Amino acid sequence: MTATTISQKQVPLLDLQAQHQTIREEILSEIVRVVDSQKFILGDDVKKLEQEIAPYCSSKHAVGCASGSDALMLALMALDIKPGDEVLTTPYSFFATAGSISRLGAVPVFADVEPETFNLDVERVQEALDKHPKVRAMIPVHLFGGCADMDPIMKMATERGIPVVEDAAQSIGSEYKRRRAGSIGQIGCFSFFPSKNLGAYGDGGIVTTNDDALGDRLKALRVHGSFKKYYHKWVGVNSRLDALQAAILRVKFRYLDSWSEGRQKNADHYRKVLAQMAIPVTPVVPAEYQTRHIYNQFVILGERRDALQAHLKQRAIGSEVYYPLPLHLQECFADLGYKSGDFPVSERLANESLALPVYPELAVEDIEYVCESMRMFYV
Ligand SMILES: Cc1ncc(COP(=O)(O)O)c(C=O)c1O
Repeated sequence: MTATTISQKQVPLLDLQAQHQTIREEILSEIVRVVDSQKFILGDDVKKLEQEIAPYCSSKHAVGCASGSDALMLALMALDIKPGDEVLTTPYSFFATAGSISRLGAVPVFADVEPETFNLDVERVQEALDKHPKVRAMIPVHLFGGCADMDPIMKMATERGIPVVEDAAQSIGSEYKRRRAGSIGQIGCFSFFPSKNLGAYGDGGIVTTNDDALGDRLKALRVHGSFKKYYHKWVGVNSRLDALQAAILRVKFRYLDSWSEGRQKNADHYRKVLAQMAIPVTPVVPAEYQTRHIYNQFVILGERRDALQAHLKQRAIGSEVYYPLPLHLQECFADLGYKSGDFPVSERLANESLALPVYPELAVEDIEYVCESMRMFYV
């Protein structure tokens, strides 16, 4: 590669334009159809999307809602989580995981994660449950597109008679021992934020369950707790998926598997090239249970992470830190009484993790350019 080609190359973290251009006509014709119908709230498009997503996620019911954040909140509401109830989760996630607990007046209880998977460490979960015997529910997160170790989590939950809500916001179609993310616990929550593998053209989310009663309750809770217009069984919220987003998502859903496979191929290529360069930065994916990783993000762990990110930026390579401050150290959770050092793995990951471009339209040469740029940094 010549100096000129190197300096001209640009590799963004995510290129939504590239994807949009491949489906633009289909999307625009759906937008026109919905706009011409003047039916924007729930309706047939949402119902059809729910009917497609439910089996894809090995679930009987799927209930569209306004965002992944609301999906989590609706799930906890459906499980009757009340102010003061403790809900166990990970401190190494997007804010909404713990935010959904606090929004209901409930109290997040954190357990640290494993450095290899970024997900809950089952031994730490056990310790936290011993320390907090009144925990009323658990929210394992399937971070970056890879599943948490669900069997031991479900065993601990079943022993205590508490439900599990899977935060699968980043993991639609991921599999744990060939079981789909979101179908293992009582409720699964997904996000259609534009950067997700299945991203809307705006906000959106969906909740899945195999439990008929929970499915019904979720459907009511998203429309102010009502089954029949103007009659309210519960105090719910307004959190509906709108028809435009559902119609767009139905177009994109047809491509989801090929896009996720593109991400998997890219992740494999990174691993291969980085290994050849002896750059020891890629966490191991535990093959014994991670049967389908969908790589919403491809995250490496590097010492001197901030300097590496600056070096990549100089070479026009996009990257992102997910997440720079673990949840137990967030200002809004100061009253929970956690301090620095309480969850050392999460705190280390916050200092060392860096997400690299892995989107499906990425070219092999782009990946090699990123790897070569990393090699230059590490030599
Ligand atoms: C792990 C996790 N949980 C919850 C959410 C919330 O989803 P949304 O942005 O659709 O509200 C996200 C979205 O980024 C997420 O990554």
